Amino acid sequence: MPLVTTTEMFRKAYEGGYAIGAFNVNNMEIIQGITEAGKELNSPLILQVSAGARKYANHTYLVKLVEAALLETDLPIALHLDHGDTFELCKDCIDNGFSSVMIDGSHHSYDDNVALTKKVVEYAHKYDVSVEGELGVLAGVEDEVSSEHSHYTKPEEVEDFVKKPGVDSLAISIGTSHGANKFPPAQCTRNADGILIPPMLRFDILEEIEKRIPGFPIVLHGSSSVPQDQVAMINKYGGSLKDAIGIPEEWLRKAAKSAVCKINIDSDGRLAMTAAIRKTLAEKPGEFDPRKYLGPARDVLKELYKHKNINVLGSANQA
Ligand code: G3H
Ligand code: 13P
Ligand code: ZN
Repeated sequence: MPLVTTTEMFRKAYEGGYAIGAFNVNNMEIIQGITEAGKELNSPLILQVSAGARKYANHTYLVKLVEAALLETDLPIALHLDHGDTFELCKDCIDNGFSSVMIDGSHHSYDDNVALTKKVVEYAHKYDVSVEGELGVLAGVEDEVSSEHSHYTKPEEVEDFVKKPGVDSLAISIGTSHGANKFPPAQCTRNADGILIPPMLRFDILEEIEKRIPGFPIVLHGSSSVPQDQVAMINKYGGSLKDAIGIPEEWLRKAAKSAVCKINIDSDGRLAMTAAIRKTLAEKPGEFDPRKYLGPARDVLKELYKHKNINVLGSANQA
């Protein structure tokens, strides 16, 4: 099956009350882990590539690896640019094999965001490529001005923003955050076992947005859950991750049943892969064949993405 855009995927996800996993890819093992999980469960997939991934692995290598995944799985797969920040970057991906792009103009003024997003939409739609826009700013890597604070999406802006540039989906900020340290401990509470609990997502904002643009697909970035067993394993085998905290999976499960049709997960894959590689190398210090530590890491990734598709996104058997 050729690459698909997100249009049909999101229509079915909205109606079916589930979300599609948008997983970041940087190399062959990650692509294989994700697509093998999708294949086993019959889950539609969005494989997304950041500017950093293109720089690391080379655009052509990533496109060709995804083409191989299409041949091997026969699943509906969209190849998506994650956090495109300029028209030129989006155009390059549209011209060179992507079926979907994000133009992230959320750091600009409202009017500049609309203008930039519109320019990308006009170009992308000529080539049947879908476009994700963003309103509101997440804390973490996305907020270069003040990385500790997010700016929630203003529901009163979404109708205009969706209509003017004509985007196909909208990323919003309701309290999720990029990376493995989503909240400083001071912003969290602790449960009876002393485990940090992050501040509750602003489901009220999500509901208000749903009311204003019914039927429109919403995207959540920064949706890793930062499993504490993976953090502990990294630290046990020589790592030093401190105060790592994510979004509880049950909150994301709730979001996936709403207008949220795409949930972005990157950090959880990074943690799982690093934990697996550290474990193998610590247990087998004589090992120097990369296949012997990348192979088990790929198996761990497959299990992680199966878990996400079943228990977080609800996308199993929806391909
Ligand atoms: O939202 C950002 C993604 O996790 C991609 O991260 O720019 O380090 O590839 P990256
Ligand atoms: P995480 O860092 O929470 O995995 O978020 C990834 C993301 O939003 C990619 O765009
Ligand atoms: Zn993101």
